[in-house]
Amino acid sequence: MYYSDDVIEEVRQRNDIVSVVSGYVKLQRRGSNYFGLCPFHNEKSPSFSVSPSKQMYYCFGCGAGGGVFNFIMEYENYTFPEAVRYLAERVGMTLPEEEYNEEARKARDLRSSVLEINKIAAKFYYYQLRSAQGQRGMEYLKNRALSDETMKHFGLGYAGQDGTALYRYLKKQNVSDQLLKDSGLMQVNERQGMYDKFWNRVMFPIMDVNHRVIGFGGRVMGDGKPKYLNSPETVIFDKSRNLYGLNFARSSKEKAMLVCEGYMDVISMHQAGFTNAVASLGTALTSRHATILKRYTDEVILTYDSDEAGIRAALRAIPLLKEAGVSTRVLHMEPYKDPDEFIKALGTDAFRERIEQAENSFLFELSVMEKSYDMKDPDGKTRFFQAVAGKIAGLELEIERENYIEAVVSRYQTSYEGMRKMVLNVLMQGAPVRMAPRRLENENHAEKDDGILRSQRLILTWLTEYPELYPTVSAYIRPEDFTDGLYSEVASMLYDQLSKNERNPARIVNHFTEPDQQRTVAQIFNTEVPVATEKEQEKAIADTIRKVMTYAVEQQSARLDPTDLKGLQDLIQAKKRLERLSGLHISLSAGKDK
Ligand code: CTP
Ligand code: MN
Repeated sequence: MYYSDDVIEEVRQRNDIVSVVSGYVKLQRRGSNYFGLCPFHNEKSPSFSVSPSKQMYYCFGCGAGGGVFNFIMEYENYTFPEAVRYLAERVGMTLPEEEYNEEARKARDLRSSVLEINKIAAKFYYYQLRSAQGQRGMEYLKNRALSDETMKHFGLGYAGQDGTALYRYLKKQNVSDQLLKDSGLMQVNERQGMYDKFWNRVMFPIMDVNHRVIGFGGRVMGDGKPKYLNSPETVIFDKSRNLYGLNFARSSKEKAMLVCEGYMDVISMHQAGFTNAVASLGTALTSRHATILKRYTDEVILTYDSDEAGIRAALRAIPLLKEAGVSTRVLHMEPYKDPDEFIKALGTDAFRERIEQAENSFLFELSVMEKSYDMKDPDGKTRFFQAVAGKIAGLELEIERENYIEAVVSRYQTSYEGMRKMVLNVLMQGAPVRMAPRRLENENHAEKDDGILRSQRLILTWLTEYPELYPTVSAYIRPEDFTDGLYSEVASMLYDQLSKNERNPARIVNHFTEPDQQRTVAQIFNTEVPVATEKEQEKAIADTIRKVMTYAVEQQSARLDPTDLKGLQDLIQAKKRLERLSGLHISLSAGKDK
């Protein structure tokens, strides 16, 4: 850590989590917490909560959670020190100079180091392109009609013929081999050792929303294979959450975003003034991408290639975007292959016209469907309309269904009554082809709730909510009785606070630096059981204490070495406490009334 704990704690205290999160998510008060739509997964009803008293956020849908620093790290894709600087600046706080002594250097987190190496590499490639050795790359890019200004804007570069140039350059700066491996810029081979992943290619740095280089794409200058090489996934590069060009597109004044397939498409569109273009870089659009796009826009215009693959990609993207609350239109590129070719051939105005004419995504889906029916045959046509009716029946709102019936009638010159009845029929059969609501829950957040861990979490959550329970709980359960290492570490920190009449779960979250750990700690402090009355609550607490204690004693007994006298004595004590526990009665109001 290269800011002291005290400095970090001050930054945290001056940045109230509700006010910070409100800058990103629309929050509404409900009881003592705030709720809103989770920015980390797609959802239609709010399960994202922010607790002012705990200074933590937690999503009951996807399990994302943590303190104010985690929120900024997740949302802005920042490292911990970057989040600290950002929040300090937000409240006008001057941070002490970072310490760069040997120890601090070692402690720097991996993400920061990998970011720095990618930045150095970007500069290296950038200068190569503009040097004598970069002539071939420069010619290639000029041939593709890119201006100097565009190349500069996108930071384009060049990796030369020498397959160890970057390796040697980074070695000279004392970057360790391990870090080089982690950077995603090197390849390792038993015979040759380590060498550059990219050589003899023009280089496209991939930047995150905050303009930091997180990886590269490299293109061969000609017809070689593979056409593009990309950085592998690293600690900073996750294809499913980054969109090429979003760092510029996020501040475009256009209402909609243009989503295309590749580097060159984004670059040509930006060069032609369409600065709202982004690409999902060769991978299919993910629901994560859709969630991220939703932060910046309500409408996406798909500008995928006009080939079979582009159509398939569009069909996959439409429902994902819809689910994220983004409406979609599809741009027709014919007779050209992609935006780059289109703009080169017909120019900016023609492209703008195509944007205006972009087709509603539902009608686009119908046109694709239509191709698999023989519309000249009456039976084929009927089957097509039946399929259309099924699709319309799958729409959620009646008004939506009505509007699409009208659109279909006018496009396919069919009868309104006939179409309406078909849709009604499907609805009556009660088997609408409605999109099944997807539950993200437990998907990435395998809550293999092995009851006992849940009970242990409940105890820790309750302790933060009812600190008056502390004397009772600590009389029975010791931090080491929490069976998971992380849980007992958290317990010991929380006990320490509570024994000093302090309650600061957010500080405990900050103590952990790994995102996985922070998530777990957030979960530990946000576990709930549905109880209706205070009496039920009291009973639940007493039962849970008993359960956790019983389990701890069982564990202790199972692990006991028979020659360990001290352990035996401990166990006898614990069993005695457990006996006393059977009469335990918890009273919450007694504590509060005083
Ligand atoms: N892509 C990739 N690896 C490949 C081919 C493609 O990662 N071997 C990704 C790249 O992000 C590329 C995108 O898919 O930009 C679209 O591919 P393609 O249409 O083939 O490339 P273009 O972007 O059109 O590039 P160019 O105009 O140079 O052919
Ligand atoms: Mn293309």
